[in-house]
Amino acid sequence: MKEQTAHQRDRFDAHVFVCTTDRDAEYASCGAAGAKTTLEAVKDWLRERNAFWTAVSVSETSCLGLCSENGTAMTIQPRNVWYSDVQPEDVPDVLESVFGPDAERVRDEC
Ligand code: FES
Repeated sequence: MKEQTAHQRDRFDAHVFVCTTDRDAEYASCGAAGAKTTLEAVKDWLRERNAFWTAVSVSETSCLGLCSENGTAMTIQPRNVWYSDVQPEDVPDVLESVFGPDAERVRDEC
């Protein structure tokens, strides 16, 4: 076992988790509501601001308990902000509200 806490704290400011669960069931899931497109929109927004993987990590995750047929659930940690029903076109508003329009608030809150 190798503890990596200090390494990751130095490297990352935030981690965006996007639910991409797609279940074969009658219940709503983010995957069925376009989660993969939303995930790519998150990565693109960060890439365009040189924040993708330099300071902000993005991971697909399983159910966040905010399932909806109207969009994707996501959370940004350690900011402790949570969203449901996110559509790809909502991604700029979500990320700007947390990181600023040009991602200028990345690292400010470490
Ligand atoms: S399936 Fe995405 S939050 Fe439950």
